[in-house]
Amino acid sequence: MKTMVIVSHPDLSKSRANHALLEALPKHTDIHVRDLYKEYPDWQIDADREKQLLLAYDRIVLQFPFYWYSSPPLLKKWFDDVLTFGWAYGPGGEHLKGKEFIVATTAGGTDKAYQAGGDNWFTISELLKPVQRTITRCNGIFLPPFVLYDANRAEPDQLKQEGIRYAEHIQTPSPVLIH
Ligand SMILES: Cc1cc2nc3c(=O)[nH]c(=O)nc-3n(C[C@H](O)[C@H](O)[C@H](O)COP(=O)(O)O)c2cc1C
Repeated sequence: MKTMVIVSHPDLSKSRANHALLEALPKHTDIHVRDLYKEYPDWQIDADREKQLLLAYDRIVLQFPFYWYSSPPLLKKWFDDVLTFGWAYGPGGEHLKGKEFIVATTAGGTDKAYQAGGDNWFTISELLKPVQRTITRCNGIFLPPFVLYDANRAEPDQLKQEGIRYAEHIQTPSPVLIH
């Protein structure tokens, strides 16, 4: 399965958690990792190129640090610019039909904080609903997300373990992820 990992981190050079996740990915041609902020420092996303890339992959992983209960803004702009009417949805908009999408996010909050009645009131799954619906509106398959909690307090060993869990998660076939 050909997988494209689109990383949306404003400054990966200062990242601990997202950097650790990327370090754990196997270096082979079936996993293509891209750094959106590095590719588009001026935020002028090349939508035609992005569409061609989407067509070339079976699974797309959207990896980002959780910022204000959402993604960093360049990923939102990527959705706006690339998932267009007549291409991703609407009449003739069938190009993403059957493609698999996985959100992979790192959160400063703990798993306890992301529970009903916890500090953040809502689970990450609830907070990711706009992304989930964007994908399903485009006829894509939204698979269970990968979440790394307590990202800023995690020790290097824990980050390494999370990296192993991440690499497994994004390479797991969909019937096993959904079970
Ligand atoms: C602007 C900003 C907003 C953030 N908002 C949240 C948030 O809403 N929820 C949360 O759990 N953590 C939040 N954090 C913490 C980040 O998720 C955390 O620093 C990041 O996942 C660590 O990953 P990194 O080491 O790859 O940068 C925020 C951090 C920043 C800088």
